[in-house]
Amino acid sequence: MDKAGMLLEVKDVAKYFSLKGGRLLRAVNGVSFSIAAHEILGIVGESGCGKSTLGRLALRLIEPSAGQVFFRGEEITALGRREITRIRAGMQMVFQNPFASFNPRIRIAGALMEVCRYYGMSAEAGRERIASLFGDIGLSEGLLGRWPQELSGGQLQRLAIARALLSEPALIVADEPISALDVSVQAQLLNLLGDLRSTHAAAMLFISHDMTVVEYLCDRVAVMYMGKIVESASTPEIFANTLHPYTRSLIAAVPRLGGGDRIIPARGEPPNPAEKISGCPFAPRCPEAGERCRREAPEIREALDGHIVSCHQI
Ligand SMILES: Nc1ncnc2c1ncn2[C@@H]1O[C@H](COP(=O)(O)OP(=O)(O)OP(=O)(O)O)[C@@H](O)[C@H]1O
Ligand SMILES: [Mg+2]
Repeated sequence: MDKAGMLLEVKDVAKYFSLKGGRLLRAVNGVSFSIAAHEILGIVGESGCGKSTLGRLALRLIEPSAGQVFFRGEEITALGRREITRIRAGMQMVFQNPFASFNPRIRIAGALMEVCRYYGMSAEAGRERIASLFGDIGLSEGLLGRWPQELSGGQLQRLAIARALLSEPALIVADEPISALDVSVQAQLLNLLGDLRSTHAAAMLFISHDMTVVEYLCDRVAVMYMGKIVESASTPEIFANTLHPYTRSLIAAVPRLGGGDRIIPARGEPPNPAEKISGCPFAPRCPEAGERCRREAPEIREALDGHIVSCHQI
């Protein structure tokens, strides 16, 4: 793929957390991907595989242990604090829990106007921008005078999306944005997120543990296992021609949309990410693992056109 003109490029990023006793937890361990303007990339994998850490690294909300991130061709991992603020308007995050993302002591209007001020809008420009976003997103302006705790999860998540759009970002990182919501509003929110690329020209890094949701929303999918991408391709390709046994188990184990439960994607649990592992980290759970898999970690490679995978059996 031609990388020129990519909106976001993540190159070999890693994030290690130091644990007690001097051990290192490799939460993200050498991940590369890119997102084109208006594209939705899904990052999928089970709990603890490093999805949220990767999302934060992409926006440089946390510092990488290694690797680089480029936004519109500019290396944001090399910028100072003040310059990061300049870039930040172009990239925003929506979090999983809408109840935790608004300050209970500030009314909705105050919370949104604070963001407008931060991005240098006058009070009048801020009010206009909020009114226009509320129209697009299907929010009543009556909500502006309310306190966060008076609103439903669905309303708050729409407000969180509106807040993320105030600065007209080109990229939104949405970290499990519908997982905490009632089934009845999940589908509506999903449609709203899908529409943002046409209504607001926004690309998205969409983090999920649910393959059904990712299939519905995303143009491309990257499957993460223990801090690494193990398979990535366009959505139709990865579903029609699944290569990695871990991806197959994720697809086989999907709950219905809104099922709420964490998926149980494969036998057993992933190994402890703080332990040193030799061989493929999926081998202990893999029905297809051979002797080489237990001995030697596979490298990620392009197995088919635009379809990358790390597995010895392919
Ligand atoms: N600040 C931190 N300090 C130490 N370890 C951390 C920290 N943040 C994350 N981790 C660890 O890094 C690993 C990846 O965490 P992360 O939150 O990125 O996973 P995730 O894929 O988003 O999981 P979930 O689906 O449960 O949200 C986990 O083992 C987690 O315990
Ligand atoms: Mg997470």
